[in-house]
Amino acid sequence: MKILVIGSGGREHTLVWKIAQSKLCEKIFCAPGNGGIADIAECVQINADDIAGLLDFVKKEKIDFTIVGPEAPLAAGIVDEFRERKLKIFGPQKKAARLEASKIFAKELMAKYGVPTADFKIFSDPQEAYRYLDEVGAPCVIKADGLAQGKGVIVARDITEAKEAVKSILEDKVFGAAGQRLIIEDCLEGVEASILVFTDGKNVVPLASSQDHKRVFDADRGPNTGGMGAYSPAPVVTQKVFAEIIDKVINRTITGLSSEGITYQGVLYAGIMLTDSGPKTLEFNVRFGDPETQAILPRLKSDLLEVMLAISEIELSRIKKLEWDNRSCVCVVCASGGYPGEYQKGKEIIGLDEAAKIEDVIVFHAGTESLRGKGQGARVRYLTSGGRVLGVTGLGNTVKEAIDRTYQAVGKIHFEGMHYRRDIARRAL
Ligand code: AMP
Ligand code: GLY
Repeated sequence: MKILVIGSGGREHTLVWKIAQSKLCEKIFCAPGNGGIADIAECVQINADDIAGLLDFVKKEKIDFTIVGPEAPLAAGIVDEFRERKLKIFGPQKKAARLEASKIFAKELMAKYGVPTADFKIFSDPQEAYRYLDEVGAPCVIKADGLAQGKGVIVARDITEAKEAVKSILEDKVFGAAGQRLIIEDCLEGVEASILVFTDGKNVVPLASSQDHKRVFDADRGPNTGGMGAYSPAPVVTQKVFAEIIDKVINRTITGLSSEGITYQGVLYAGIMLTDSGPKTLEFNVRFGDPETQAILPRLKSDLLEVMLAISEIELSRIKKLEWDNRSCVCVVCASGGYPGEYQKGKEIIGLDEAAKIEDVIVFHAGTESLRGKGQGARVRYLTSGGRVLGVTGLGNTVKEAIDRTYQAVGKIHFEGMHYRRDIARRAL
């Protein structure tokens, strides 16, 4: 089969790496891809949100199956466009993608179908929101309704911070239309975990549990990022907790959507807070997590492409369960100096070959580009081109072994301004 993967991050490098191993995959393309993806797939310069451009390419190249990485094209309805033209694609339709594209849609669905989540109220009028904040006080969490590139959630420790967040969203419109409405919800305490499942809207096949590290600095200090590292499995997610999340969060959401006439086909990601009163849902994503995917897929032994095809045909019942490598997997993100704030690009990355020589280490690329010299045997140079640059990933028989191996590989890599957390997965020890 000819496959197209859409996206350009570490998640997409991992998807391409895994799918290229499938016996069903004859040729793989990635749009637009990155420097590392270009080593294993043919990259085509079409942006992930250029649906018309992607459709043209798929028809011209006779692509058999398209896999969508990021949320933006899903929220814009790429799956609906492809299906109308009888083109096979992996991902949820536009209506189902609202689970991520509208936090209000997700919260109302959860409330209606008994999915455990923090209590909340919806506001569009800033004055009403300020009055409510005076009533409930802090801490509380303010969430812009729409997609805000991971910046739309503010965990406010005091009332001033909470009011500032409301002002920036509803009055200053920092997120534009994504901030026409917002949610104010109770602040939950606990440990976070990411639970991803495959579903065709009828059957559910869970992936291994994982945990992300969202803050930029060690010990969870500093601003939120897209994710500075991840590990799988997450020992806090015991079998009992896992079963409870599948039952109360995943199954209720999928059957709830189905009662609303919406079939969810794809991967569903639930961000969970494990609280003293049980697991509560923080958010849904309608795609693979990044960097969770880098820590999960190296452990997957089953053929990912087979699973994705079964979902697109609403025949996930064909796949009884997934086979997993029992080892632990750790991914450490190497980021550009200044990230998640402003950063420079175009820094040469040194030591990638040395790192990749270490046993059971894979270096996934995110914000990189490659420069290929001319002629046979010419050297390839890799330059930074984004905030999160690499996801250095290692497997080990124990969490400790995976951590040591991964950091040994990180130690071989260098680019000007590179920074990374030194405590990824330590809480799993
Ligand atoms: P979200 O994009 O909704 O996952 O929010 C981003 C991050 O904000 C989460 O990973 C949590 O760390 C935090 N967060 C979101 N909602 C809450 C909540 N109700 N209580 C505490 N922290 C939260
Ligand atoms: N790692 C969090 C996310 O993918 O949204």
